[in-house]
Formats: sequence, structure tokens, C-alpha cells
Amino acid sequence: MAKPKVFVARRMAQEALDMIAQAAEMELWEDELPPPRDVLLQKVRDIDGLLSLLTDKVDAELMDAAPKLRVVSNMAVGFDNIDVPEATRRGIIVGNTPGVLTETTADFAFALIMAAGRRVAEGDRWTRNGKWKTWGPMILLGHDIHHATLGIVGCGRIGLEVAKRARGFDMKVLYYDTVRRKPEEEREFGLEYVPNLHDLLSRADFITVHVPLMPETRHLISTAEFAAMKPTAVFVNTSRGPVVDQKALYQALKSGQIFAAGLDVTDPEPIPMDDPLLTLENVIIAPHIASASVATRTKMALMAAANLIAGLKGEMPPNCVNPEVLKKG
Ligand code: GLV
Repeated sequence: MAKPKVFVARRMAQEALDMIAQAAEMELWEDELPPPRDVLLQKVRDIDGLLSLLTDKVDAELMDAAPKLRVVSNMAVGFDNIDVPEATRRGIIVGNTPGVLTETTADFAFALIMAAGRRVAEGDRWTRNGKWKTWGPMILLGHDIHHATLGIVGCGRIGLEVAKRARGFDMKVLYYDTVRRKPEEEREFGLEYVPNLHDLLSRADFITVHVPLMPETRHLISTAEFAAMKPTAVFVNTSRGPVVDQKALYQALKSGQIFAAGLDVTDPEPIPMDDPLLTLENVIIAPHIASASVATRTKMALMAAANLIAGLKGEMPPNCVNPEVLKKG
């Protein structure tokens, strides 16, 4: 029997590509940049499975262009690039890669908390630009992480891992979420639930966002939310760029309404080189690399391959975001 056809939208860990090549006739997009839209639409014409990345929009137009498509496996935990209800309606299975990147992403969120709070990137620029003339009592002063209050917005898997790290720094940890954690978890991880977002923002010294991008979370953090923060607040976003109103963030940083920010995500991505945020010293902008460790990216690729292969066989992928597709039939 002919092997199913798949398109893999970027090179990833070889072990994962070998797995896919065993199970399917694979076309691999070798460029560093994503396939342009018109090319992607053409590449999917004949495929049964697509291994996508968060840079590839998988919408009704793409599904129309791919009449044989049965499975979309996204190599990311977030899947806001995919129109999941549309996929479900068409009986297309969608997979993602949760769990394996939780701790790596939390590590990076903590790195941004520390780097923005203690002006690490700015200090490096200071040195390279020849500004380091002496040790100065008032030079490059930041804010302590230890014993400060951390506000976690969205305390799912990643938010909870950030909370665990915060305990090592003797931080007080507040969290806001639409779903409250169990009392025993709050006790075990030293979490205080704050049911009102603005209350959390006004009490926290460091704020870290870990919500998925959905219509309800688009611009969740905007002018009023920055106004609620302390002037010494450090704001960190490792979730999705559009969760934050970037113009409002710029105003808050520029005017000194907040102290600093650390971003791993922007809106759009990549951030245009003429974005005014790039003119500010008090923001660190990483190029969406929170899950980018060798081990984690390998695990994500293997998980995405496993999801793809299971979906091609009509089996439930290890991580499926629309299991109802398989339960229906
Ligand atoms: C990365 O942002 C992911 O969703 O995995």
C-alpha cells in the first residue's frame, strides 16, 4: 500500500524526521524561513498529514487547499495558529506538544525576570559601548528578585513551574487565573489566589504571563493593566505577543509607569526593526526561544512526529487537542 504523504514545515531533530520518513512519504521544507503562504498552499495539495510550526497558519483556506488532510501536528504547545474548530468540523485531527517544554519555558521566564529586574542585557550593552568607567554606587541599579512578590497571570503547567522556581528566591507568589487551583496545590506550592487581575497587578513586583492566546486573552494586558502596576514593576511575557497591547507596553516603559519588561514574544513576530520598543533600554526582547534547549526541542520534535504518525493511522495521537474527532466515529 502506498505510504501516506506528509509535509514537514521545517527541519527539526533528525530522530523525529527518521521516524516520519519510515511511516510516510515525507517532503521536508529545508529553509530557515517558513514556507511562503502561496508555496505552503501548493505543498499541501496532496498531503495526508502536516507537521506545522507556530509560524504556519492552518486555516480554512489551507484546509480547502488540502482535501486529503487528516492530521495536523503542531510542534508547539500553543496552537493559536490553527483554526481548531474548523479542523474538527472537517474531521482533521490536531496534535500539539505540551508537557515536555514546561520546565524549559519556566526556566526562561525566570531568566527574563532576573535579567529585566537586574538590567543584565543593558549592563552588557553598557560594557560593550565603553561606558564602564568605574564601579559606581548608583550605576545600573535594579530591583531585587529575592523576597519580592511575584504575580503569575495564568497558573497552568508553566505558571506553576515558575512558582516553584520563585520559592527558591523566597518570593511571595500570587496568581490570577479563571480557574482556581486546588487548596492542597495552593498549600504545597505556596500560592495565594487573587481573583481580580488588577489587584494582583497592583500588589506584584514581578509579573509573568502564562495564558494561551484566545479571543478572551487578546490584549489582556493593556493601558489600564499597566496603570495598575507599581512604578517599580517588572513585566515578563513568554506566552503570545497579542496577549499584550504592545503600544500600551511601550508607553508604560517609556513614561516610567513600570520599571522594565522582558519579552520572549511580540506582536507581530519577528518584531519590525522600526518598532519603538527597540529604542528603549528597559526592555529585553528575545526571539521566541523560551523552549529552545537542545533536549526540549528534541522532545518536542519526537512528540510532534508521534502525533503525526498516530493521526495518519487514524489512532488517537499521544497529545490531541480535538479528541472528539476520533471519538465521533
Ligand atoms: C511555543 O511558543 C509553543 O507554544 O510551544
